Amino acid sequence: MPYDALGNRPNRTRVLFVSSEIYPLAKSGGLADVSGALPRFIAAAGEIDIILMLPGYPTALELLENQVSLLRLQDLPGGDATLILGDLPGSDLRVLVVDNPDLFYRPGLYTDENGLDWPDNAIRFAALCHAACRVAIGDAVPHWRADVVHCNDWHTGLIPMLLAAHPCPRPKTVMTIHNLAFQGNFPGAFLDELALPAGQYSSENLEFYGNLSFLKSGILHADSLTTVSPSYAEEILGDEFGMGFEGVLRARQSDLVGILNGIDTDAWNPGQDCLIPARYGIDHMAGKARCKASLQADWGLAVDPDATLIIFLARLELQKMADCLIDILPELMSRPKLQLAVLGAGTPEIEAALADWPRRATGRVAVHIGYDEELAHQLIAAGDILLHGSRFEPCGLTPLYALRYGTIPIVNQVGGLRDTTIGATAETLDAGIANAVHFVERSSAAMLAAVDQAVALRADSGTWHRLQSAAMAADFSWHKPAAAYGKIYEGLVVPRQFAPV
Ligand code: ADP
Ligand code: GLC
Repeated sequence: MPYDALGNRPNRTRVLFVSSEIYPLAKSGGLADVSGALPRFIAAAGEIDIILMLPGYPTALELLENQVSLLRLQDLPGGDATLILGDLPGSDLRVLVVDNPDLFYRPGLYTDENGLDWPDNAIRFAALCHAACRVAIGDAVPHWRADVVHCNDWHTGLIPMLLAAHPCPRPKTVMTIHNLAFQGNFPGAFLDELALPAGQYSSENLEFYGNLSFLKSGILHADSLTTVSPSYAEEILGDEFGMGFEGVLRARQSDLVGILNGIDTDAWNPGQDCLIPARYGIDHMAGKARCKASLQADWGLAVDPDATLIIFLARLELQKMADCLIDILPELMSRPKLQLAVLGAGTPEIEAALADWPRRATGRVAVHIGYDEELAHQLIAAGDILLHGSRFEPCGLTPLYALRYGTIPIVNQVGGLRDTTIGATAETLDAGIANAVHFVERSSAAMLAAVDQAVALRADSGTWHRLQSAAMAADFSWHKPAAAYGKIYEGLVVPRQFAPV
């Protein structure tokens, strides 16, 4: 089969996958995990050539392999940028980076060191959107234009509108909503700086409760809409979880589908994980005990195999009920032989409220404020229980990693967690299918009751082993979701008969 100048097979569907975070180039949460893994499986699953694209953050430019400067992109919002092509480390995926030092050479992806949004975020991500459109229509990368642009979250929300204004045949667009809480809303005064087609600032378009909204624009104009679990796809049509977008989403309901995220089962595999001190599987769990002892020692906890080690690994924010963790901490410490290890970063007040606990409960509470991929693996391998509250949860990857590592998640029944976990009840335990402990009410009291239930279950080693077996056997590989995305692309693209670009 002939290849073109960029190594593409001409009869394949070409997808530009644009995301603000792609693991390992840049990460603040699950969006990066999805963007770093899903495209590999999409490429492997079908007749699809895929190129990834993200902003030129310092980490991205440091880690991107085999970099080549392709061209200068002129007159983008925020100034000119260099388009750099390279390879995603650890894969053969190609990645385009929009390099504008003024916009992207900063310590945080979205916020400064005090957690405040960069004031020019609208311009920074408008630059990404415009650059992506130029690539998509064939104006940037020689011999390449996209059949489909796959947009992720608000940072890419202007792309569908910009492409909709492009003469046909134009690339089609898929917009994946990873989290409706992040909306990309900015004062209307930014409008002039975003180089948008005229007449877009109306309530039928960009305008959203007095602001301009990147996400609303994406939702309205994308040819196809997806979100990251079937349950969240239903929930966001209603007032409780729609976050103001329920009306807009209901209007596009027939184009919206929930595709459950997968996980990278190579990177997150206790049987081969090089980031943890010992490897293990359900038939040889001694390695998990070693991981626990090692973490207890490293984090200043009492080294005690019988203590129940609860881990909390999440953005320290209201979404993850980190405030409720703080509420219940005194009660937790009144339970015998219970330890807590926290790894997270987020709201300064929550960070501050946690910071004192290792001193107040020496040997029983350890807190690492910060972001550390290696520690995240070690924590998940070491824990007996992952405490993971969610006021809402589009999918929730951390509980899926915990399941794979035999660390039983305590989660509430919301969003993707309804689709991935089975709470322990007399029946589910009997049937050997329980893999989690559930709580329903999103409150501190319900969270505490769930911890007590989990600790009681752990007291019976046979029951606990059955829970761990079910957890570790669950299949969350990317194969099925990748095929589902492939089908969506297929449905959008008019078959191309070896058309020259
Ligand atoms: P969200 O995207 O809402 O933050 P997910 O559970 O889907 O939630 O994904 C979170 C990802 O971020 C997981 O890969 C998790 O391991 C990682 N993570 C969260 N906090 C930290 C941290 N402090 N250090 C390292 N990894 C973290
Ligand atoms: C979001 C959601 C999380 C989801 C992740 C990846 O940040 O909060 O639930 O797993 O994106 O899709």
